[in-house]
Amino acid sequence: MSTLIKGGTVVGPTGSHRADVLIDGEKIVALLDPAFPVEAETTIDASGKYVIPGGIDAHTHMQLPFGGTAASDTFETGTLAAAWGGTTTIIDFAVQKTGEVVQDGLAAWHQKAEGNCHIDYAFHMILGGVDGDALKAMDQLVTDEGITSFKLFMAYPGVFYSDDGQILRAMQTARDNGAMIMMHAENGIAIDVLVQQALARGETDPIHHGLTRPAALEAEATNRAIALASVASDCPLYIVHLSASKALEAVAEARDAGRNVFAETCPQYLYLTLEDQLGAPGFEGAKWVCSTPLRSKYESHQRDLWKGLRSNDLAVVSTDHCPFCFKDQKELGRGDFSKIPNGIGGVEHRVDLLYQGVVDGRLSLERWVETIATTPARMFGLYPQKGIVAPGSDADLVIYDPNGRTHISAGTHHMNMDHSAYEGYEIAGHVDTVISRGQVIVANGTYHGRKGHGCYLKRGLSSYLV
Ligand code: URP
Ligand code: ZN
Ligand code: ZN
Ligand code: ZN
Repeated sequence: MSTLIKGGTVVGPTGSHRADVLIDGEKIVALLDPAFPVEAETTIDASGKYVIPGGIDAHTHMQLPFGGTAASDTFETGTLAAAWGGTTTIIDFAVQKTGEVVQDGLAAWHQKAEGNCHIDYAFHMILGGVDGDALKAMDQLVTDEGITSFKLFMAYPGVFYSDDGQILRAMQTARDNGAMIMMHAENGIAIDVLVQQALARGETDPIHHGLTRPAALEAEATNRAIALASVASDCPLYIVHLSASKALEAVAEARDAGRNVFAETCPQYLYLTLEDQLGAPGFEGAKWVCSTPLRSKYESHQRDLWKGLRSNDLAVVSTDHCPFCFKDQKELGRGDFSKIPNGIGGVEHRVDLLYQGVVDGRLSLERWVETIATTPARMFGLYPQKGIVAPGSDADLVIYDPNGRTHISAGTHHMNMDHSAYEGYEIAGHVDTVISRGQVIVANGTYHGRKGHGCYLKRGLSSYLV
């Protein structure tokens, strides 16, 4: 099956140009001068539109058991929603619980995902119990399983938490086998003290989730993670869901020193705030309980994050998609904010939300594509199979209409969530057509994909290191 995407502007990280894209089977086979005559079985008109690589969301948590419940999107519903929003690859987090064999945790995640995904998927591995066996498992996952990144937690004592010794040992192992350490950088021991003190004072509303996780404790943990990575002979380090200016400063300083330190942020930190969302009246704010938390609009976080995206101190935008329904799930924490399941859903809207950066003049078109597709592919060993519109790459493509509009609402989204973190947003730009490995899966507001189309991707080592 050959398909020609005609008349569009192909956008990549290094430039944009008019070109027709020829697809044969699952691959892009040529970028052609629009004047060059070619025949294809199917032609798609992309006049006036951008042709971009399919989005790669490098941070999702489909059906994650967490906070006494489980994230409400399954691999099936979550990847369907991702596809609608122009994301054609997710990297989800398989979990080793404390005391569990790492490979058993991984097998459980394969079982959840296999045959259920609408788009291609890969895994990072969360290590919830770093010990001698887990360190050996890291080597095996890198060598045999295509898992080349490991997430550790400085937060959530008693759940996923690793102490500094465990972190150092995992970093030393990663330094030797070439893997990336991903860090949830918040000082969970100090946070737990603040949480207990707040609850003892009777402060139970959702906003206290944010107030007990101050930016200073994200900055402290980020600095500590960077120091530990330095002690581990400059182990590659990637800070996830960075939300605070001072944490960004720490990353920028390490990068200025030439270190392999990277960071991502998420749309929620670019658009939503402690006061306006987490501080919504009554229990409403529970919808926006996530960690790291939304930050204060009276501080410079959002401005600094946008700047970090331009300067590449923030290299990637992921969603940290971890949805919980308001009814029945977020409700678990009514009367005690510490029992509200942590997470926001957004896998469907990342591409559109970041396009607003282009509309507002904060990001170039090329930088938009780089942060949502090309860099995640390079960072996590999927490039050039994914993340670029080029001959030989998978035909994962989005035809994006800059003149279209997107309306975000729980009534119209495809995520399995009874609310939207961005309810009522009317934004510029629209995902028109989505192609996954040569198959048109979204076109003209109709879904043509199927569960089971998505394949597991074994990843290589990062090709982003200095
Ligand atoms: O609130 C969040 N971020 N939930 C998902 C788990 C994590 O820490 O990434
Ligand atoms: Zn996290
Ligand atoms: Zn996460
Ligand atoms: Zn549409």
